[in-house]
Amino acid sequence: MIVLGIETSCDETAAAVVDDARVIHANVVLSQIEEHRLYGGVVPEVAARSHLEHADSVIAQAMQDANMSFKDLDCIAATTGPGLIGGVLVGAMSAKAIALASGKPFVAVNHLEGHALTVRLTNDVPFPYLLLLVSGGHCQLLICEGVGQYKRLGTTIDDAAGEAFDKTAKMLGLGYPGGPLVEKAAVGGDAKRFNLPRPMKGRPGCDFSFSGLKTSVRRAVETLDGSLGPDATRDLAASFQLAVAETLVTRTKNAIKMAKDIHPNIKHLVVAGGVAANQAIGTALTELAEKSNMSLVKPAPALCTDNGAMIAWAGLERFRLGHSDPLDFKARPRWPLDPDAPSAAYAGAKA
Ligand code: KG4
Ligand code: ZN
Repeated sequence: MIVLGIETSCDETAAAVVDDARVIHANVVLSQIEEHRLYGGVVPEVAARSHLEHADSVIAQAMQDANMSFKDLDCIAATTGPGLIGGVLVGAMSAKAIALASGKPFVAVNHLEGHALTVRLTNDVPFPYLLLLVSGGHCQLLICEGVGQYKRLGTTIDDAAGEAFDKTAKMLGLGYPGGPLVEKAAVGGDAKRFNLPRPMKGRPGCDFSFSGLKTSVRRAVETLDGSLGPDATRDLAASFQLAVAETLVTRTKNAIKMAKDIHPNIKHLVVAGGVAANQAIGTALTELAEKSNMSLVKPAPALCTDNGAMIAWAGLERFRLGHSDPLDFKARPRWPLDPDAPSAAYAGAKA
């Protein structure tokens, strides 16, 4: 079974071809970083226009890299949400057009399910597993029980972890995108110099909050009153990174307990999304997994951040269970993986 997957929900125009033997035949990712850098963040209108301009050539490149034509495919999958709706529409319409023209089925993929299932493409992890999804738009803990079967244990009540990295980078004058720049700036820094809060510490459950941490970073910058030299930047970046790592660990620790109550033999803790690329966070989560008698599984960084292979794979997993979708399937800006999940600790939580 061979599937083309198209991803356009944020700031990467991506297309990939994967098969059911878990071989990635092509994986083309065109980043829009340069187009958004000027604004210090992703501008939805700029993103949508850029997807429109580049989707055709990215898809053509993926087919060329795979040395295949559309007739070799079993189905065409695309992200149909959640995400920036202008971009989502471009990818979904491209996939539907290819499906119509080639007479192949179309599979609508939830972007979050793409992240959730990547580890079955890269590491063949069996269900059930606990997933910490930490990206620029999402920060959630979910039990993945099967394709289309997710129990959300916790989510963020305000910012996502990646968003907090991006905003911190901005305050420290490091640029965009923030995560990798904060990580780089933190090397050799004194993570104890700034006493930043550990949001939600000691609270039951595993919801997250990062806006208070962000405010504390801003206060620390203000207190330095213009004297944010290289030493303070390094120490503040390190202090912030440690605060995020410890917060992710304590909340995930609670989630492990909750998951083990439901599935006593659950073995794998999976971390996915762009923030999973962070080494310090990876090390802290590996320690937690070991202490909890679980193993941490982390897809390669290139498959942790947005890409087409994760969408192709999620489409493949759905298609081989008999799912495909009509060409009038509507794109969804919001689309929780677990529609029955209670909302987070406060109103206004992100789905
Ligand atoms: O999964 P992703 O590529 O896109 C979304 O779906 O959001 O995640 C991007 C996010 C950004 O906020 C970026 O700053 C963060 O992941 N990120 C990192 C690192 N690399 C990317 N955060 C911390 N450390 C990193 N090394
Ligand atoms: Zn993503």
